Amino acid sequence: MDYILETRGLVKKFGELRALDGVDIRVPRGMVTLLIGPNGSGKTTFINVVTGVYRPDAGRIYFEGEDITELPPHERFRRGLVRSFQVPRLFTGLTVTENTAFARYGNPGEGVVSGLFRRLWEGFERETVKKAFRLLDFTKLKHLWNHRPGELSGGQMKLLEIARSMMPDNPRLILMDEPTSGVFPALAHEIFRYIRRLREEYGLTFLIVEHRLDIAVEYADYAYAMAWGKVVAEGKPHEVLEHPKVIESYLGG
Ligand SMILES: Nc1ncnc2c1ncn2[C@@H]1O[C@H](COP(=O)(O)OP(=O)(O)OP(=O)(O)O)[C@@H](O)[C@H]1O
Ligand SMILES: [Mg+2]
Repeated sequence: MDYILETRGLVKKFGELRALDGVDIRVPRGMVTLLIGPNGSGKTTFINVVTGVYRPDAGRIYFEGEDITELPPHERFRRGLVRSFQVPRLFTGLTVTENTAFARYGNPGEGVVSGLFRRLWEGFERETVKKAFRLLDFTKLKHLWNHRPGELSGGQMKLLEIARSMMPDNPRLILMDEPTSGVFPALAHEIFRYIRRLREEYGLTFLIVEHRLDIAVEYADYAYAMAWGKVVAEGKPHEVLEHPKVIESYLGG
């Protein structure tokens, strides 16, 4: 098996709390892998440590076979490690198209933002705008191109986050934090179908943190379950869901 991402013994402490307590996760290339677990089990912390928001207290992170543990977030992003957020981080004063186009630069530094803000559309390269429109078309948001994020429904915000995660030049592994939270079931299915299509058309790999297990299980190839900062099960999604330790963790055991 070929793994695009591998962590070994990741530990992240917040004071006395071990939010990650020795996490070994391997993400198979070209697949959709789920990361499940009850509230507070460490899923978002895992994404934050892998993307470089937090430094681990122990352990190593390998991406494409290289140790990236010491690399700054923007360098990980440049190598194709892209994330979406549990709560989307959008510029409320910019249009849907502009917000999509900005995502090409990840979480851009002050310099990039102010440089582009000065003369917004002129600041974007033609290719960037074209790609943004293509992705808005793909996610059926094109008719909203000139709207502000505040005018979007919760579901449309989630679709916008999918479009944005595809904007970087060279996405390879997309880490998604709850891409379907708060949307009705039909749209959750649609979002997972988009993810499958993106995987196939672009040869991408996804690691998806999800609470909608009933729906997600249909679209995923592999799953990890966390509880109390540790991996408690891994394997085929429906087997992981039925694993006694996973059930126990969801019951608060
Ligand atoms: N910046 C922080 N400072 C202190 N504690 C934190 C911080 N971030 C997370 N934690 C704690 O670490 C633990 C794991 O949190 P995390 O957000 O990773 O959980 P999660 O699995 O994503 O949960 P949810 O499903 O609710 O999003 C929790 O106990 C949380 O309160
Ligand atoms: Mg979380």
